[in-house]
Amino acid sequence: MSKITIAIDGYSSTGKSTVAKRLAKHLGYAYVDSGAMYRAVTWFAMTHNFINKEKFDIDSLVSHLDAIHINFIFNKDVGFAEVYLNGENIEKHIRTLEVSSFVSKVAEVSEVRSQLVNQQQKLGKGKGVVMDGRDIGTVVFPDAELKLFLTASPENRAKRRFDELIKDGDEVLYDDVLKNVQERDYIDSHRKDSPLVKAEDAIEIDNSNMSKDEQFHVILGIVNKAL
Ligand code: C5P
Repeated sequence: MSKITIAIDGYSSTGKSTVAKRLAKHLGYAYVDSGAMYRAVTWFAMTHNFINKEKFDIDSLVSHLDAIHINFIFNKDVGFAEVYLNGENIEKHIRTLEVSSFVSKVAEVSEVRSQLVNQQQKLGKGKGVVMDGRDIGTVVFPDAELKLFLTASPENRAKRRFDELIKDGDEVLYDDVLKNVQERDYIDSHRKDSPLVKAEDAIEIDNSNMSKDEQFHVILGIVNKAL
């Protein structure tokens, strides 16, 4: 059976990466978390002091883009590929609410986007890939054989994100997580370069009332028809 490209886009915290990872494992495909790449660039900018609560120095970030090398290395203990920035595993740093509070501003920068889109296209060029993000079906792989667009109510998404952050030991308030989810949705869908929109040929799935298992099986049914 020939391998295909599966693009999964949608709003923040719709459970894209959870279902994408499970699907990739089930199909024996590669999984690429494109959001982790924007988070890695954000982490780089934070640790170089280009970004903090007081400043957002886009010029310095852009002039250092060549010094950013992101790759994914499979960790068999956790069962998925973790993200590395310049050789360092940064998985535990990039999912915090602090990184989330800056990432959408970083993702608005066209120079950042073109560098990451280029890398994403290389990572997926052999097909047999599940990639999740905001512009995978519209910009990165407009010819993907299967495009899914996930949605759920903001409250539902914030609750899921809040539970994950608490589980990871991040001391956050639900209201702050909800605010962040709504702010990111707004910036992501209103930016000039590659705004978050559903590709015309994407299948929309509202998973507000689905468990993770239900969602996986609904999506697997769709995938099996596309194979
Ligand atoms: O998927 P995740 O929530 O980790 O993505 C973090 C942020 O990265 C998004 O809110 C968005 O600003 C940006 N992003 C993007 N394009 C992608 C993936 C993520 O702009 N393909």
